Amino acid sequence: MADATELLDSGERLDEEALRALQLERLRASLRHAYEHVPFYRESFDRAGTHPDDCRSLADLARFPFTVKADLRAHYPYGMFAVPQDRIRRLHASSGTTGRPTVVGYTDNDLSLWSDMVARSLRAAGARPGDKVHVAYGYGLFTGGLGAHYGAERLGCTVIPASGGMTARQVQLIRDLEPRIIMVTPSYMLTILDEFERQGVDPRSTSLRVGVFGAEPWTERMRREIEERFAIDAVDIYGLSEVIGPGVAQECVETKDGLHIWEDHFYPEVVDPITGEVLPDGEEGELVFTSLTKEAMPIVRYRTRDLTRLLPGTARVFRRMEKVTGRSDDLLIVRGVNLFPTQIEEIVLRTPGVAPHFQLRLTREGRLDALTVRAEARQDADPGTREAAARSIAAAVKDGVGVTVTVEIVEPESLERSVGKLRRVVDLREKEGRPGRGPSA
Ligand code: DLL
Repeated sequence: MADATELLDSGERLDEEALRALQLERLRASLRHAYEHVPFYRESFDRAGTHPDDCRSLADLARFPFTVKADLRAHYPYGMFAVPQDRIRRLHASSGTTGRPTVVGYTDNDLSLWSDMVARSLRAAGARPGDKVHVAYGYGLFTGGLGAHYGAERLGCTVIPASGGMTARQVQLIRDLEPRIIMVTPSYMLTILDEFERQGVDPRSTSLRVGVFGAEPWTERMRREIEERFAIDAVDIYGLSEVIGPGVAQECVETKDGLHIWEDHFYPEVVDPITGEVLPDGEEGELVFTSLTKEAMPIVRYRTRDLTRLLPGTARVFRRMEKVTGRSDDLLIVRGVNLFPTQIEEIVLRTPGVAPHFQLRLTREGRLDALTVRAEARQDADPGTREAAARSIAAAVKDGVGVTVTVEIVEPESLERSVGKLRRVVDLREKEGRPGRGPSA
């Protein structure tokens, strides 16, 4: 984009050398802040025999211990906070599919930083002041809605705070209020797409030009599907509540080549998920973040469980992360073969006759796990096309992933639709006599 450089903020204009110097200065201050104000960090640094003064280069960060979700749970709700409660201006909480949720807190400065990072993300996505932004991420304890909301306001946009759900109304708001940008999970965008079609409205005819999609993994195939069916640019936004929320990394619309990590504030490492060893840029592993400027809840070497790799900067000086393949928690091991739901997504979405809606069901047959892919037929798919689709998906999974699956082509609109984050996997295996994780939203 010709005007992009003039629009960059001061952090985005740094050169590489200045960026690394700034990161080191901020890292040292942040480690000190964590050590001095959060007993958990003091104890974990002491136990590891490290002190904030030992951090003399960015590589020295590897000497500090990791923080994991269980640490946050163990200090629920406020034990990880580094400032007195009267400086906490807002709380959010992560969904917490198992056990306690994790609570995160923000000072005024943290909220302002967050808005700046989402504004920066939106600008990279192609949004400009004056644009109307439809926010269909859920509002509430989830960081998606409010994070997107204040970032869009910070950029100078007009926000339409639709939140998630009431899909027919989403369509009406898009048609009547004419937003140029939509922010929503990619799976809910598909639900909205269905609703356009149900109402007989051409989704390509709307005012929407850019979709900023995140909060769950999605593939290049899904990008193409959404871009073509809505006639928009679809870009990826990444973030997590423990680090701040949406706006940790963002893909630029002009390159669509992975997400630039706003690493002047969130320092990334990629580590071997088993050994914890730091991997060189370019190698795939688990993404780890250290906050550089956060006040209320500094986070040191937080293991995201998201799998990706770091790549050099392109449209921005900041390094990129490749689209997340999946979380290590989403890894399915079926008859000894590892697979991620995104691998199945790639296959289902390129198969003629099926809609981009599918679900993975895990069951146990005797002592072996069995995986069933349930994919929805497109409205116009005749029985012959459906059978061919089932055969083709099974063959592609066998060839590409190396595992035998059963494929069921189900009726159009019979699978549960997402209104936010989608859960792809339904685990129906009995575990030690107890029912496994059932279907959830
Ligand atoms: O999902 C924050 C967010 C809201 C990001 C809106 C983007 C848009 P949590 O609920 O804490 O926060 O979940 C964080 O979601 O560790 C990833 O596993 C996953 N995730 C988030 N963005 C992406 C993405 C929000 N673009 C967890 N691609 C993260 C793949 C993503 N996974």
